[in-house]
Amino acid sequence: MKKCGLISAALVYGGSSLMLEGCASVSYFPYSEEKNLLVIKKSNFVKDKYGLIEYKNLPAPIYITKLEDDNYSAVLLECTHKRCEVSPAGNILICPCHGSEYSNTGKVLQPPADKDLYSFRIKTDSENIYVNVKNN
Ligand code: FES
Repeated sequence: MKKCGLISAALVYGGSSLMLEGCASVSYFPYSEEKNLLVIKKSNFVKDKYGLIEYKNLPAPIYITKLEDDNYSAVLLECTHKRCEVSPAGNILICPCHGSEYSNTGKVLQPPADKDLYSFRIKTDSENIYVNVKNN
C-alpha cells in the first residue's frame, strides 16, 4: 500500500515560525470505480482510521476518515483560501501555504481560510464505502 511521503514545511504565520510534518504515515487506499462512485473497502480501516485516495480527475487527494458508529467523512485536500494542497498532521489538516487549519472532517479551525473543505457525499454497505465524486 502506497504511503504518503513526509512533508516538512516552514511557515511564517502571525510573526512566528512553525514547522509542519504532515501525512508521515497516511496510506493511500486502493479503490475501484463504479459510475460516479469511488469504492473503498471498509477493511482498509481496520488498521488505519484515515487514509487518502488519489483520483485522477481531482486537483488534490481525498482524505477519508472513519468516524464513530461506522460513519465516514471524505474531504478534498484543497485549501479553500488559495487552493494549496492541505496536509494531514496528526488529527488535523494543515495548509502549508498560509497556515489554515481544518478538522479531520474539513471544518475550518484556523484562518485565513473561511470556508470548510469540500466534502463528498458518502454511502456505505456492509463491505464498502462509496464516495460520490460527481454531482455532489
Ligand atoms: S492557500 Fe491555504 S491558507 Fe492560504
